[in-house]
Amino acid sequence: REETRCDLMMFGALGDLAQRKLFPALYQLERAGLLHPKSRILAIARREADTGSVRELLLNRLREHVKPQEFDADVARGFLQRVDYHCLDFSDLDGFAALNEWRSTDPSHLVVYMATPPAMYGEIARNLRSSDCCDHNTRVVVEKPIGHDLASSKVINDELGEVYNENQLFRIDHYLGKETVQNLIALRFANNLFASQWDQNHISHVEISVAESVGIEGRWGYFDKAGQIRDMVQNHLLQLLCLIAMDPPSDLSADSIRNEKVKVLKALREVTPDMMDTHVVRGQYTAGTSGGRPVPGYLEEDGAARGSKTETFVALKAEIENWRWSGVPFYIRTGKRLPEKLSQIIIHFKPAPHYIFDPDQKHLANNKLIIRLQPDEGMSLQILTKDQGLDKGMRLRQGPLELTFSETFETDRIPDAYERLLWEIMKGNQYLFVRRDEVEHAWQWVDRIIRNWDDSGQPPKRYAAGTWGPVASIAMITRDGRSWYEDA
Ligand code: BG6
Repeated sequence: REETRCDLMMFGALGDLAQRKLFPALYQLERAGLLHPKSRILAIARREADTGSVRELLLNRLREHVKPQEFDADVARGFLQRVDYHCLDFSDLDGFAALNEWRSTDPSHLVVYMATPPAMYGEIARNLRSSDCCDHNTRVVVEKPIGHDLASSKVINDELGEVYNENQLFRIDHYLGKETVQNLIALRFANNLFASQWDQNHISHVEISVAESVGIEGRWGYFDKAGQIRDMVQNHLLQLLCLIAMDPPSDLSADSIRNEKVKVLKALREVTPDMMDTHVVRGQYTAGTSGGRPVPGYLEEDGAARGSKTETFVALKAEIENWRWSGVPFYIRTGKRLPEKLSQIIIHFKPAPHYIFDPDQKHLANNKLIIRLQPDEGMSLQILTKDQGLDKGMRLRQGPLELTFSETFETDRIPDAYERLLWEIMKGNQYLFVRRDEVEHAWQWVDRIIRNWDDSGQPPKRYAAGTWGPVASIAMITRDGRSWYEDA
């Protein structure tokens, strides 16, 4: 479609994100026939190289990062014909003139993807403006982390805002591009069955778990300054919480959805110092196992500095102070080096108002909706039925109404988040991207927790790699008479 035709300038094109995620995603769009025949890509990085060698390098990276059954060398080579390479020091304004030359040969809509450290966003934006490379139709894509806290995120947002309007900015949170995350919107607002049950009258609590089995993966330098709360909670986990908790938007437009998400963020109860013992657990992994292999602790990883107090695990009890969610805790937890990679949301419904079955089975009597974001994307509604057999009387049994996307819809593949995000950028649709005020309200909430940690000076609690985090995380939920889903 003509509207998706674009020139894509990718800054940081030889970096890890571009090679692992962005080029493979663009290749998949090519394979699906979605890239406009005239769309072009200018890969930009500091390294001296020519287009031929960069195409060769990218071909090898595609082979590495695309599943073998999805890799087609002819499609890959055809795709790479779209790619030109330009070596550039991002602070060298004169060098930007060459970008303009590339543009002027056959210009179409410009998308600028800044796959660079955020500290460079402002400079790239200013240089693009000064060299007349962009206009008010240019779309600009930036990655997290947008800052380190509220103050630094404002600096980055201000710098971008000097050059671009908010409707030109596409702030990526790749969780919003995941198929099942989008399905939360369909699940909630296309099924009246759930819509009518989605509040404190019917739901007792919500769990959001994003567990990772990997450790730091050679990123100690970055991760140690961030920690799990900045790396995962401020963005991915709070976005999930917003999608679960928000009120129905009046339509699917970007601003309708984002307005509702912001209302949730604003309603999050501030975590004050006296709440830290009951509402927050932070952990750091020690040596243990992963996939049956021994793995080092966080402080023994390559490049680790002794005595770091950075957390690799966080569990939080978040409360939303509004009419819909009053009294319904959202337990969220995320960590590295947990036993498996698993992201899921569990909606725990309240029990029926009057219970007439075996008193010993009363603990079974609440429905749960389990939404599996990854792996094995799907949903399962745990409902109660009667146990079969003459001797069972009216004994209850809990079982799933199960929907596994790959089986039910016979989809051969679920697109990677970046494929969808890039496709939406090409179409100019912002609804899967994060608005400035969302980023800032999320920082405000998270900053308070980090400040409390800093003030208390307490170290994170230890947990062995390959376990579900510190025991304090279990204690936090047990204190409320509940348990994390796996432990139920
Ligand atoms: C990134 C974090 O945003 O998300 C990483 O920086 C984390 O630390 C990753 O591993 C998890 O993403 P996914 O899609 O693998 O769940």
